[in-house]
Amino acid sequence: MSMKRPVFFLMTGLWAAVAGSVVAVTQAPAPRIHAADDGLAMTPPMGWYPWNEFGQEPQNETLIKEIADALVSSGLKDAGYAYVGPDEGICFTRGADGLLTTNLARYPSGLRGLGDYIHAKGLKYALYTDAGTLTCSKAMPGAKDHEAEDMRRFAEWRADYIKIDWCNTEGQDIVKSYTKLRDAQRAASRAVVHSLCSWGEGEPWKWAAAVGHMWRTTGDICAPGKADWTRAMKILAANEKLYQAAGPGHWNDPDMMIAGMDGLSESRNRAFFSLWCMMAAPLMAGNDLRRMSKSTIDILTNLEVIAIDQDPLGVQGRILRKEGRVSLWGNKPLFDGSQAVLVFNEGPAPESFSFTLAELGIDPEADVYVRDLWRHATRRQEKKDKGAISVTVPPDDVLALRISKSAEFPIPPILVADSYVVSFRMEGPAPQSLSGRITVGNKGTSELPLWEIGKGLPSWLSVRVTRNGRTQTFTNTISTAGLKKGHYHTVVRADNIEPVSGRPMSALYYDVDLEVTADVGSGPGSSEDD
Ligand code: GLA
Repeated sequence: MSMKRPVFFLMTGLWAAVAGSVVAVTQAPAPRIHAADDGLAMTPPMGWYPWNEFGQEPQNETLIKEIADALVSSGLKDAGYAYVGPDEGICFTRGADGLLTTNLARYPSGLRGLGDYIHAKGLKYALYTDAGTLTCSKAMPGAKDHEAEDMRRFAEWRADYIKIDWCNTEGQDIVKSYTKLRDAQRAASRAVVHSLCSWGEGEPWKWAAAVGHMWRTTGDICAPGKADWTRAMKILAANEKLYQAAGPGHWNDPDMMIAGMDGLSESRNRAFFSLWCMMAAPLMAGNDLRRMSKSTIDILTNLEVIAIDQDPLGVQGRILRKEGRVSLWGNKPLFDGSQAVLVFNEGPAPESFSFTLAELGIDPEADVYVRDLWRHATRRQEKKDKGAISVTVPPDDVLALRISKSAEFPIPPILVADSYVVSFRMEGPAPQSLSGRITVGNKGTSELPLWEIGKGLPSWLSVRVTRNGRTQTFTNTISTAGLKKGHYHTVVRADNIEPVSGRPMSALYYDVDLEVTADVGSGPGSSEDD
């Protein structure tokens, strides 16, 4: 359907979407964005982290592997959740040589082995450390004065995401400390999502976009194992106010999710999840994925709501109006020219609430379609209603809507890989050529252009990308001619432009390993290791 898309004039005056193209109209200088170089976290990172449910115990290799398995079997991976790994899980110590070493009693495969397990499942590896001398419980060493060697070690363990806490940092300058860690990550030459965790201390929303990809805005959302709705509501209120700081590659982080933890009702789970998506928050599940009800799975994997969070424009929604315990959330233009709207009833009884298209910046005379993202139903807005929409919202619940001039409600790209590592072993001195594949699916509705492979592949590797509908296959061809016996490794980066919004997609990275068991005879190509 070709229709003129809505014209938004939002209350902030920060964004205007005219005939489908959203342009920044702010006069403020563009902030420096760390992600401009590495292309990571262009939409909020999604995954799972242990702290909300487990605290320190029983974090160990078995738990993390079981959770990784559950991410796949429950369908969460297919909904875009990817980052997983230990939080403050007593996973390393510092040896006499000053270098980090895995706590093998808890992680017998080593932290590199755990990373390999996670990558082979098409998931991404998250690790944790602290910017101070020790982590919060003092059970693990912090990175202070060891920034370079620790970030190198994390790269050797093949971390894709590093959460860096702010405990035991007396006397440290927060901007300098996190900047030093960023520089150490760059020097270690592995692109990682840098997740700052100072709980709002040092107002990271003012400076951390240049240093990392996301920053905690508040204190912990709960004590381990105890979902706390009151605390979640306080965090919601604090994080909402920071909406101007978020955008592709730089996100406010109101902490891991409590949806699905014991003690929360279905409506609270639904409301919580919708609110986190409306705030373009990182979606790190915090519940025990091994024992989820169907209702929890349905909530955490609702792609229509995830679409709001993973929208390529990356605008954080905010409260437009509050009446008593009911809030109207908007300021969330989406990549297709539609916009997301939420009505949240925080009170103990059902509430009736009315709003107008005009207050959302939509022409009340326009023909619009209203999609209910939880009921999965679309209706046409009646002309006789003159742009007014009246709803009743049950207690602790939300109405999550998407309003468009089109009856189509496309889902933005949600990438799902079958693996993030491909390994080869070559025997004998004769030159050989072998290939191995990685397949990247897209649960969104649009087909992407072919992924473009970054420059600088080693001479022993070539990569060809082919497309079959929304699935793309990366065929990695290895040629061993002229290579010396040894282990070779490289990281492949691929980039893409999301076709509807025209925004760069989050860059895609995967590891390629090659073991050559004997010196190989001459032929084209030369020996090279990174
Ligand atoms: C802090 C962080 C939590 C968790 C714990 C670990 O409190 O905010 O998310 O990482 O440390 O001790």
